[in-house]
Formats: sequence, structure tokens, C-alpha cells
Amino acid sequence: MSSVVSEPTVLHEVAIELGERRYPILIGSGLLGAATTWQGVPPAAAALIVSNETIAPLYLQQLAGALQGRFRQVHQVVLPDGEAHKDWSTLNRIFDALLAHGCDRKTVLFALGGGVVGDMTGFAAACYMRGVPFVQVPTTLLAQVDSSVGGKTAINHPLGKNMIGAFHQPARVVCDLDTLATLPARELSAGLAEVIKYGPIADMDFLAWIEEHLDALLRRDTAALAHAVRRSCEIKAAVVGQDERESGLRAILNFGHTFGHAIEAGLGYGQWLHGEAVGCGMVMALHLSRGLGLVDDALVERITRLVRAAGLPVQGPRLGAERYLELMRVDKKAEAGDIRFVVIEAPGRAGVRPAPEALVRQVLERCTA
Ligand code: NAD
Ligand code: GLY
Repeated sequence: MSSVVSEPTVLHEVAIELGERRYPILIGSGLLGAATTWQGVPPAAAALIVSNETIAPLYLQQLAGALQGRFRQVHQVVLPDGEAHKDWSTLNRIFDALLAHGCDRKTVLFALGGGVVGDMTGFAAACYMRGVPFVQVPTTLLAQVDSSVGGKTAINHPLGKNMIGAFHQPARVVCDLDTLATLPARELSAGLAEVIKYGPIADMDFLAWIEEHLDALLRRDTAALAHAVRRSCEIKAAVVGQDERESGLRAILNFGHTFGHAIEAGLGYGQWLHGEAVGCGMVMALHLSRGLGLVDDALVERITRLVRAAGLPVQGPRLGAERYLELMRVDKKAEAGDIRFVVIEAPGRAGVRPAPEALVRQVLERCTA
């Protein structure tokens, strides 16, 4: 499959408006292996493709071939696969490769993979020689609808998820929908969690569209995927365009993440997929919103049904309330040790606020098994 190079077709282009750091998100088919896709990438002598041992055999040659005409040297580094490797020692392998190849400060890094490769490559690009350009080439649904866009880069710390990182915007994002053909079903579902997220926080029409097209999405229908990626990127681009560094509004993109990150860290990174934890975390955050009197049971049930139908868990693991609370206190939204949650204030509108500990304990009791 990976050796078949189809005609490049850009189905949608979404711009992320950040002044001189504005960049395009290309969404389409046959993009990866087409030289035309990479016109407009900053000029440089060398490129370094960062990928992992699962994705490299599928797509790295296609990308490297397409980049040959634009860069004199196309280097590569292949990392171990998995969230458990989103750490300092794996990050260092990117710096080792850059230095071993004598890469200068114009070198362009290409992140070929899911959110783990994207977050680590972006962080390496933010740090190498105090900042070099990078391009996101997301190959999971989750990365195409969320992590490749917006310039958040990070690695994990054993005490907290994505705790060490930087804001560093890519020069462009290329979402080749063809790559989703090889994605395991569990990963596709994980990506749907972040797609569903955009409904309750920003666009109830989109939520209804997802409900209507869930089967098509699970069948990987190209038109359905293209629309889901486009609308998700449009919503994310609009939020990031207003609040790049998360001084306020951007936090709504973390709906479900406070509970979700606690699940990921509490079980050990990689046990639950990030999207699975977020899907379940959204259900928990909706119960919290219901407990605060912000939304009704019907909305909680509607989204719980959709999360379940997307193939995602709706009950969290029984880590114990104390452990959840301890983990949630290291969330980046916490202020002076007070946990702050993204809640749904009304259908299609989210906000960030603290919640009484007794209510959080009730939600944990009800939503874990
Ligand atoms: P991932 O990067 O671990 O990829 C999932 C799995 O699918 C991996 O095993 C990967 O090798 C494999 N894979 C990737 N593309 C494939 C393909 N086309 N065919 C076959 N296999 C493929 O996980 P993810 O869900 O993409 O990303 C999760 C990460 O993203 C988390 O670390 C999370 O914290 C981060 N994230 C970051 C942001 C952000 O704004 N920076 C937003 C959301 C999530
Ligand atoms: N995924 C949350 C953000 O990019 O802000």
C-alpha cells in the first residue's frame, strides 16, 4: 500500500492565522510522496525526518523520495514506538542525529508519525540551536485533528504528562488521509475522541454531523474523514489564533484532559491510549458539569452514547479518589494546588473553573469501575 503513490489532491486547506508565523494545514490524498506538497517549506541544505519503527517502514521512503529534490541531504532518525518513550532519552536521539550529521540552524525537521513523534520532534526543533523550523506530517487521526496543529510540543515526566515542553509552531501541517488506511482500529477510535471533543466545546452542528457520520468515519470513508479533519482543524485554528499560549480560551481544548491525563499517568503511560483517556475523561467532565448545574442529563447521555459508539471506554479505572486528586493537582491548569476543570457551560460552549472536592469525589465514584 505504501509504495502506491496516487495523484496528490488537496481537498481542503485551513490557515492558522498567527501573523508572520501563519501556516497552512493541507488535507488531502496522495500528498506525502508528491514533491509539490513540499514547495514552500523553508529552504535549507538538510532535512531530518523523525519517525518511529512502526511508521518508518510504511511511509518514510515515500516522504524521503519527495524531499530529495528540495534538500541536498535528507537524514532520518527512527525512534522506538510508544507513549512510554516520550521522554528525555528518546528526545536525545534526535539531538544525537542532528549533531552527528552536522545539521545547521536552517535544517528542517519533519515529524512523520502520530502525536508522540510530533510532540517530540516539535520540542527538539524548539530546542536545537535555540530553534529550527519543522513540519508536521501527522499519520494518526488524533494527530491530524489535534496534536499537529497549534505548536504545543512536549515530553512526559513520570510525575506528569507533557510537563516539559515549549510552544513552537510548525511551518506547515500536511494531513495525508491515505496514511489512515494502515492505522489500527483502536487508534482510529482514539482519534475520534478528539474529534468528538470539538462538538460540546464549540460546535453542536458538528456534533450532530459526527453522530450522523460515525459509521462512515469508522469505515474510513475518505470524504467523511476529510470533513472531520477539516472542521476539527478549523475550530482548533480559530482558538489558537486567538490564544496561542493558552492564557485563557485555549484551555477549552483540554476538555476531558484533566481526568484523562490522570488516567494515563496513573496507569502508566501507554496502558490506555491518550484518546481513550480523553474520551472517558470527557464523560467524567460532563458529569462534573451536570453536578455543577450547567448541563442536563440528556447532554451527558448523548455524548456518553457517542463516545461508547466510537469504540471508547466510558468508565475510568479504579485508581482511587486520592490518587486521581493527587495526579490532577499537577495538571497545568491547576493554580496554587487548586484543580481547575474544563466544563461545558452550555451545549457548544466551554469554560474553566474549580469544582468542590466533594463533587469531584462523587464523579470519580460514579464514573470509575
Ligand atoms: P501515537 O503517536 O502513539 O500513535 C499511535 C500508534 O499508531 C503508534 O503505535 C504509532 O506508531 C502508530 N501509527 C501512527 N500512524 C500510523 C499509521 N498511519 N499506520 C499504522 N500505525 C500508525 O499516538 P497519537 O494518538 O497519535 O498521539 C498521542 C500523543 O499526542 C500523546 O502523547 C498526547 O499527549 C499528544 N497530544 C498532543 C497534543 C498537542 O497539542 N501537542 C494534542 C493532543 C495529543
Ligand atoms: N490539545 C490541546 C491544545 O492544543 O491546546
